[in-house]
Amino acid sequence: MTTHILVGANRGIGLELTRQLAERGEQVVAVCRQSSAALDALADKPGVSVVTGIDTTDDAAVAGLPAALAGETIGVLWVVAGVLRRSNLSQPDTATCKQLFDVNALGPLRVVSALREQLPQGAKVALLTSRMGSVGDNTSGGSYAYRMSKAALNAAGKSMAMDLKDAGVAVALLHPGWVRTDMTGGNGLVDVDESAAGLVARVDELTLESTGGFWHMNGERLVW
Ligand SMILES: NC(=O)c1ccc[n+]([C@@H]2O[C@H](COP(=O)([O-])OP(=O)(O)OC[C@H]3O[C@@H](n4cnc5c(N)ncnc54)[C@H](OP(=O)(O)O)[C@@H]3O)[C@@H](O)[C@H]2O)c1
Repeated sequence: MTTHILVGANRGIGLELTRQLAERGEQVVAVCRQSSAALDALADKPGVSVVTGIDTTDDAAVAGLPAALAGETIGVLWVVAGVLRRSNLSQPDTATCKQLFDVNALGPLRVVSALREQLPQGAKVALLTSRMGSVGDNTSGGSYAYRMSKAALNAAGKSMAMDLKDAGVAVALLHPGWVRTDMTGGNGLVDVDESAAGLVARVDELTLESTGGFWHMNGERLVW
């Protein structure tokens, strides 16, 4: 049994990861800003606990995470929390760009930095990025705020992989597919259960040899 810390677990992919991991008999600490009825229902199951009040853009809140997780032996740290907003070349909306950078790139950096000393040898870090953050795969343009924020997360995740390797901690950058959640307005190519199952499989097979990779949840290696 492994302890999974899931940041951004009250809805969407994070909620489904919580459900699947709990069903598999893992210990799950679901971290979020505010719980939801769906997460409260999961928290009634054995092995699932909830930590609220963690906004990943709030330095002080994230600084409270180590104390909130004291006593947990972290097996996998998942940072799932993210936001998507439109921005195009005629109206890049720099305020939106800064907001997405704060949530999508700095949020995971804050969380992993705060918990780095609580990651034992053999632990894993799973960062939910997006194929939209791939520069090499960009054939459709647009989405400035989201693409730039996820490309920055990819850069951060690669550095984390290098910095944590000697401590025996492996890091994966994972694209969940185009998933039917609130983020996509219910549109997409895959349901959340299929996406979460793929993400769990990718983390199961992650090793120090493969640390720092960028994968689709279906196992395909993605270009940076
Ligand atoms: N769905 C897709 O097709 C898709 C594709 C590629 C990548 N992704 C990535 O996958 C991850 C999960 O996406 P999703 O589809 O599950 O999205 P979602 O349904 O919109 O859920 C987003 C989650 O992030 C949390 N969150 C947002 N801002 C936060 C903050 N400042 N602090 C703490 N939590 C915050 C939300 O909590 P609140 O309820 O408090 O807002 C919610 O739990 C994201 O990183 C997203 O970029 C999704």
